[in-house]
Amino acid sequence: MATQDDLKRMAAHKALELVPHGEYIGVGTGSTVKYFIEALAASAKDIKGAVSTSSSTSALLRQHGIAEVGLNEVNGLALYVDGADEINHSLQMIKGGGGALLNEKIVASASRQFVCIADESKYVARLGKFPLPVEVIEHARSLVSRQLLKLGGEPELRIGVKTDNGHQIVDVSGLNLDQPMSMEDAINHIPGVVENGIFARRPADVLVLARAGGVELVY
Ligand code: 5RP
Repeated sequence: MATQDDLKRMAAHKALELVPHGEYIGVGTGSTVKYFIEALAASAKDIKGAVSTSSSTSALLRQHGIAEVGLNEVNGLALYVDGADEINHSLQMIKGGGGALLNEKIVASASRQFVCIADESKYVARLGKFPLPVEVIEHARSLVSRQLLKLGGEPELRIGVKTDNGHQIVDVSGLNLDQPMSMEDAINHIPGVVENGIFARRPADVLVLARAGGVELVY
């Protein structure tokens, strides 16, 4: 039987087919993306370079000899490939389990096509079982947490974690995410919030979904 790791690897390999030759692409963060970077390095795809979303992804790109380029050096990206913690049938996501949500949202917004790679455990009818990561300015953490409580969530500080951009993360359980765009906006309007992990304003364009029976593209 295929393990979750097998499925992640299958989705990552299939996504290679969507990578155009001779373009800059964005690369997300996480264990599924790690398989994508390995597959890209082993393939004959001649991308111009990759914009990274985290120090861990940059290290993997270096390790596999893939040229990294800064977002400021490119005029948009053809494609962005990333995983998700949850993705619904409208291809809206919760992201940030790996703590890279801010850079992921920035790079996704710069990309013409967002390809989400995921195993079937991530594909859900309703977002919200996975606690929502919210990146906060450290000294506003308690203030923000009180506002998140008012929105119906139970915030919990991710202990010992600082993001690549020097902020803290609060993971919020119990939020009603049935209106993901309004919740994305409402949380981002709390002073002290840097970014939250709802990707509803910029959903994926295609989901490469790996199930035990095979990989399918969901649009
Ligand atoms: C990192 C992310 C990841 O895409 C998400 O956590 C999924 O990770 P994995 O592929 O390891 O399951 O949003 O910030």
